[in-house]
Amino acid sequence: MTDHVKTDVEAGILTITLARADKKNALTNAMYGALADALDRAEKDPAIRVVLIQGDGDSFTAGNDLADFSAQSKGTHEGEKHVFRFLKNLAKATRPLVAAVQGNAVGVGTTMLLHCDLVYVADTARLMTPFVNLALVPEAASSHLLPARVGHARAYAMFALGEPVDGATAASIGLANAVVPVAELRAKARSAAEALTKRPLGALAHTKALMRPVEAISAQMDREGAIFQERLKTAEAREAFAAFAERRQPDFSTVAG
Ligand code: COA
Repeated sequence: MTDHVKTDVEAGILTITLARADKKNALTNAMYGALADALDRAEKDPAIRVVLIQGDGDSFTAGNDLADFSAQSKGTHEGEKHVFRFLKNLAKATRPLVAAVQGNAVGVGTTMLLHCDLVYVADTARLMTPFVNLALVPEAASSHLLPARVGHARAYAMFALGEPVDGATAASIGLANAVVPVAELRAKARSAAEALTKRPLGALAHTKALMRPVEAISAQMDREGAIFQERLKTAEAREAFAAFAERRQPDFSTVAG
């Protein structure tokens, strides 16, 4: 159980709100569990026709909680890792997923958008996938989905250099449907979600299934996940997480891969 993910169903829309604004909505294991449960519920509850994902505060999400990553890298993290269930649920979701993104969308904050069907970004948006800076590898099938969306060169710069993409650029390169002033973001995404609730559910589900090779996406998640888990335990990754905690630049010059 966590208070850091809020859910609400109204007029056919399940709204999932990341609610850990003081930590830029960084995602803990408990939050991944709540997100996975919410997506499960969307598949089973006939009252839910569309899922809308948003974040409180000035950031959509700063991605995985780096203290959790650090605990995993030291082997002190106990219990089921809900992130995999969340990612698999994203991959196989049949309901339309709509996202409203303001400020930072780091790591999974950006890669989850590749599984959303409509994405609205604020003019404050900053999409980042700095996996290599953290000595990690891309996840959520983004190693295939991101280059397919924006081309190899830009995807590589995002993964390997951590190059950020602002809201206007995200819309122009096909990572988002539109960029709007931050004050208008929630209303814009909500109105798109409302429009989808008026469309026939069966036709929406088939259209989405035709557009997404779910088995291939899921298999790529498994390949990435195996390497990701190994990478978490490397000296490189421990240095990256220690550097974030100590608010300094990492020094990879002396650590082994
Ligand atoms: N995990 C855990 N805590 C995080 C976090 C994360 N991913 N991102 C931010 N926080 C925490 C900070 O530690 C800080 O906590 P504190 O107030 O107790 O010190 C708080 O959230 C605010 O973050 P801060 O860095 O001061 O905000 P900022 O506006 O200067 O920068 C970010 C925002 C998102 C650019 C920056 O926090 C960041 O780079 N975070 C790490 C992102 C990341 O690498 N995620 C993993 C991707 S795989």
